[in-house]
Amino acid sequence: MSEEKFKKIISHAKEYGFIFQSSEIYDGLSAVYDYGQNGVLLKNNIKNYWWKSMINMNDNIVGLDSAIFSHPITWKASGHLDAFNDPLIDNKDSKKRYRADNLIEDFIEKIQSKLNKEVSKNEKRIGEKFDLNIFLSTNERAKKYNSQINDLKLRLNKALNDDNLTELKQIILDNNILCPISGSCNWTDVKQFNLMFNTKFGASLESSSDLYLRPETAQGIFLNYMNVLKTGRMKIPFGIAQIGKAFRNEIIARQFIFRMREFEQMEMQFFIKPGEQKKWYEFWKETRMKWHLSLGINQDKYRFHNHEKLAHYADAACDIEFEFPFGFKELEGIHSRTDFDLSNHEKFSSKQIKYFDPFDQEKYTPYVIETSIGLDRMFLAVFSESLNIEKLDDGTERTVLKIPIILASNKCAILPLVKKDGLPEIATNLKDKLKLKYNVIYDEKDAIGKRYRRQDAIGTPYCITIDHQTNQDKTVTIRERDSMKQKRISIDNIESFLSKSFDISNWL
Ligand code: GAP
Repeated sequence: MSEEKFKKIISHAKEYGFIFQSSEIYDGLSAVYDYGQNGVLLKNNIKNYWWKSMINMNDNIVGLDSAIFSHPITWKASGHLDAFNDPLIDNKDSKKRYRADNLIEDFIEKIQSKLNKEVSKNEKRIGEKFDLNIFLSTNERAKKYNSQINDLKLRLNKALNDDNLTELKQIILDNNILCPISGSCNWTDVKQFNLMFNTKFGASLESSSDLYLRPETAQGIFLNYMNVLKTGRMKIPFGIAQIGKAFRNEIIARQFIFRMREFEQMEMQFFIKPGEQKKWYEFWKETRMKWHLSLGINQDKYRFHNHEKLAHYADAACDIEFEFPFGFKELEGIHSRTDFDLSNHEKFSSKQIKYFDPFDQEKYTPYVIETSIGLDRMFLAVFSESLNIEKLDDGTERTVLKIPIILASNKCAILPLVKKDGLPEIATNLKDKLKLKYNVIYDEKDAIGKRYRRQDAIGTPYCITIDHQTNQDKTVTIRERDSMKQKRISIDNIESFLSKSFDISNWL
């Protein structure tokens, strides 16, 4: 997808009340966004779809809403104080700051796209007989690009795993990776940069202490593991799920709501018996992918990516990647977190954090499989995939947001054909009947075609039009967003039509 299309997505999100730059009247706050009147509805529907799939569909998963603040030792125990760093580098000429690993990754991407161009050029030239494997192993240019990519990936992963900042800089220098702004290779040394925001807690300067805004919601779950275990009489395996804000002082924040400094996560920690982590890791990989596919978005848009550099707490990890407008990127992480967090909280708090298994009569610290998805990234995935500009048979264009209807901000629009003859009264009555069950829009302004286009642009699945025939036989037309087909149904059947269409059990 082109940069042009991505710009269109960002401007559409603003123009139709989905996403606004935070503090726009003061020229904005970088990588912080606000959700507008339609955005908040879509966001709430995504939350609900996730929450239902976790809490309602699993007898052994319960919810939690833990505070954003927690005792500062939390972040020592979790390893975030010591290890939640990104390697940063500054260009001395442009004074711009970058993540060193991102600079190298972008460079690899560039070589990859040269390789892709070479492949498609030859594919066109050779036609049906083209064999990718033969081409990659015989074409001199392709061989060179391939080995460059592999060497760079190996070097980068080793440097990251060894926390070798000197080597990271050396890779940048050896490959003459230039600053995109100044075009120079005049770099500072690479330094570690902790991503946590800190703040003061307490009323007076003397008595206040340092606190951190949570960089992940997961720690609130670990801190409450014993509380939920005891009060919920939980038996392993069981999970705790929560949705909430997280904060990271990202070095570079770009790509709209993909990388934000304040964002929301939907996380679930699944507590299991040690030794069973492989089985449950596979189970959650499969379950989470099924959740994504249940929305009906094309399967080709998703792929798994195994982590080569593991986070400080994990013994296995992968991402579910989505093809965003700027390529395949992480949408959700699935991590086998071992007993790292619970054991460390036990050590730092000197409180016992264990599980007594009544069947095996043994006590142990549970292992954890985590599923963690960024709500804002999910929003971007759905939104960018849904935005379509269609050429119609009559030569005109329409812009339509084909959001999976279960997630659509507003479920239907009620439109009296004209503002007289009793039609607005019938329409208002219908709206009042539906409005507590669904988000419903009432619109009587402008010609009907223009009103349909307005609803298409915000992704409303159904337009219900009240016309003069309604006065005679109590029927209305329902126009379907994606096909634009219309049919007449009795006004008395509208509720059952909508409840069938939006029954979540047909989706999950
Ligand atoms: N508890 C594990 C954890 O936080 P992560 O891979 O760092 O793991 C999980 O983050 C998910 O949170 C990511 O897959 C992504 O969807 C989302 N996420 C992370 N950083 C983000 C950011 N700066 N802006 C928006 N979403 C972010």
